[in-house]
Amino acid sequence: MTKQMDLGGSFTLPKTSLTLNRMGYGAMQLAGPQVWGPPRDVHSAAKILRDAVAAGVNHIDTSDFYGPHVTNQIIKQALHPYSDDLIIVTKVGARRGEDKSWIHALSRQELIDAVHDNLRNLGLDRLDVVNLRVGGVMGPSEGSIEEPMSVLAELKRQGLICHIGLSNVSPKQLAEGQKISEIVCVQNLYNVAHRSDDGVIDDLAKQGIAYVPFFPLGGFNPLQSSLLDAVAASVQATPMQVALAWLLQRSTNILLIPGTSSTSHLRENLSAATLQLPPETIADLNSIGNSPKQ
Ligand SMILES: NC(=O)c1ccc[n+]([C@@H]2O[C@H](COP(=O)([O-])OP(=O)(O)OC[C@H]3O[C@@H](n4cnc5c(N)ncnc54)[C@H](OP(=O)(O)O)[C@@H]3O)[C@@H](O)[C@H]2O)c1
Repeated sequence: MTKQMDLGGSFTLPKTSLTLNRMGYGAMQLAGPQVWGPPRDVHSAAKILRDAVAAGVNHIDTSDFYGPHVTNQIIKQALHPYSDDLIIVTKVGARRGEDKSWIHALSRQELIDAVHDNLRNLGLDRLDVVNLRVGGVMGPSEGSIEEPMSVLAELKRQGLICHIGLSNVSPKQLAEGQKISEIVCVQNLYNVAHRSDDGVIDDLAKQGIAYVPFFPLGGFNPLQSSLLDAVAASVQATPMQVALAWLLQRSTNILLIPGTSSTSHLRENLSAATLQLPPETIADLNSIGNSPKQ
């Protein structure tokens, strides 16, 4: 797969020169089972990254706590030296326990160490975008983010980070973060079946900030819906392609980072960028979600 594809247009992060194609790639699935250790076949993992970039993907989402270290090392092995237009977005704020658990790591020293881990394992002098991951994977938990945000702002002033994003945050935490530094993107859990961030997306769109949903396909519990299946059959696509196309049509500030360890799934996901869902189909799909009362 070397042909450049139409990846759903592009979006420029606010007050930056970073223009990302709307269909990107999430690298978490490249590590071993449970995002731990190396994958079974590191060469095919590297090939997926090269295929994605060859197809036109210029937005890769990662973290040094995937593996840990493994995913970033595969990215470096596959793609370094990086082309000028490739934007690698990483995240800090968690670490892995020996039991493979995901533990908050938001202290000053942990954040500084995490930024240096990312720089070293990706082979970079500065990171394009660093997301501060605050809450747990199933949603934000309230509390001030002033201290960790101030650390990232300091690392930005030192030139180790170009731009800051937030992940697993509430609207209140976003507002607090924006008082400390420009926020260029927000990465929270959102997909056609999990829509608690509907209001956040609309608010960010007004501000020109990117919204990058994680688990766009349901993550560790892939989306399953008879309606999704029926729509997919009616538009001659797969249910996963419909889920991705629905997200691209939901709002122009949504950028996608579906994760896969499979070449055929990668091709399928990238092709979803050209799938146009008619308005009545979108209306049907909207009934899957659990949009909260506004
Ligand atoms: N900020 C955070 O806290 C956070 C949390 C989780 C993830 N993330 C980021 O978000 C990215 C995306 O999330 P994710 O990878 O966990 O979830 P996802 O993209 O929703 O789903 C990935 C799962 O779907 C499967 N899949 C992918 N394409 C498919 C297709 N066309 N047909 C059938 N199955 C398909 C994958 O299996 P195969 O490998 O078999 O294709 C994998 O099991 C991650 O890579 C990571 O960078 C961020």
